[in-house]
Amino acid sequence: MTTKAWRSSIIHCIADPSKVGNDKAYDYYEDGILVVEDGIIKQLGAANDLLATLDPDVEVEEHPDALIMPGFIDTHIHYPQTDMIGAYGEQLLEWLNKYTFPEESKFKDKEHATDVAERFTNELLRNGTTTALVFGTVHKESVDAFFETVEKQNLRMICGKVMMDRNAPDYLTDTPQSSYKDSKALIERWHEKGRLHYAVTPRFAPTSTPEQLHQAGKLLKEFDRLYLHTHLSENVDECEWVKSLFPDSDNYLDVYDKHHLLGERSVFAHGIHLCDSEYHRLHDTGSAISFCPTSNLFIGSGLFKLDKAEEHSINVGLGTDVGGGTSFSLLTTLGEAYKVIQLQGENLSPIKSLYLATLGGAKALRLENKIGTLKPETEADFVILDKQATPLIANRLANVKDIEEALFIFMTLGDDRAIKETYSMGERVYAKTIMS
Ligand code: GUN
Ligand code: ZN
Repeated sequence: MTTKAWRSSIIHCIADPSKVGNDKAYDYYEDGILVVEDGIIKQLGAANDLLATLDPDVEVEEHPDALIMPGFIDTHIHYPQTDMIGAYGEQLLEWLNKYTFPEESKFKDKEHATDVAERFTNELLRNGTTTALVFGTVHKESVDAFFETVEKQNLRMICGKVMMDRNAPDYLTDTPQSSYKDSKALIERWHEKGRLHYAVTPRFAPTSTPEQLHQAGKLLKEFDRLYLHTHLSENVDECEWVKSLFPDSDNYLDVYDKHHLLGERSVFAHGIHLCDSEYHRLHDTGSAISFCPTSNLFIGSGLFKLDKAEEHSINVGLGTDVGGGTSFSLLTTLGEAYKVIQLQGENLSPIKSLYLATLGGAKALRLENKIGTLKPETEADFVILDKQATPLIANRLANVKDIEEALFIFMTLGDDRAIKETYSMGERVYAKTIMS
């Protein structure tokens, strides 16, 4: 048995601030201790209280100028788009044809897929992200490459093979039958192996025939606790296209609903242009939305209505949506989320922001008993933020009145430079190297 402790300022969310108010939504220890035993958190509390009872043989690692919080959870990202992040000048449908599909064709080659999966995973960890819901490509090799990579570091990760049988280049399409067969083989190989989970992943309604969506629903019925991961109502032209492709559906969400794709482990990226009945149906089925602000701004999709999701008690997580999104950093993503909400005349509080990047994401993925907080008996996935990350951050943090303002500074000025160390199950998986 190995036990180790970390001493620093420590914060985590324990509830949704939109339900209980900011003050009751988090615990903060200015001088705190986090005790981890064999990868599981055993104690969290004030140093004054815990040091008196802690076994003197336990090593205590001290981080005086830092802030510990749960590892970040990215509820929507495409690993095959790592090398095309920041592609110029297009909105969704043109962007897919011009940049995305040619890039994804390279993942038929397992060696290429492994190279990108390794660089992608490093990028997640150097940004403090310990769990992500990840798109592969249509090629089953892409998912093997990803899971083989993250398994080595014992990360809690979710991924799936894209199902796509129309409205895409021939070199990138499967069929209803092959997508079922390939997905099933991947599920049998990877789903719930260690900390890994499988997500049935039809790309979005326009690239699947009704027959393929039927196959996706069949997989969800045949295996327990699978995720469903897709896109929903991101772009106005896309929404019009869906109407013409599925004239018998009441709205965009109804296309998925008719194929039994809604449920407690269903995560829909974007959900910008939704009507009231879609909000109701998302709530009633326990489905979640991934809010992806840098992508929504970068490819000009629109402004996510967080107030509507809250009004309907829909689970919302935060997503980077790389490579439509422009940063792997959930701190940067929160800075942009603040601006998206600001443009609608509202505020996104620092505590709600922390919630979205941690416990909110865990709840969207139904993993709140394992990750997303620093509660005892959960997995020790956490990050250490550096209060001296940049001269500007150090200076600004020296003048804040409380922890909420400090959090806000990390979210408006912070990025990968703010991440000092990242831990998975109590093991250090990333440490920033200081250049002198
Ligand atoms: N809709 C369908 N495919 C994609 C994709 O790869 N990225 C984004 N942002 N939206 C999509
Ligand atoms: Zn996406």
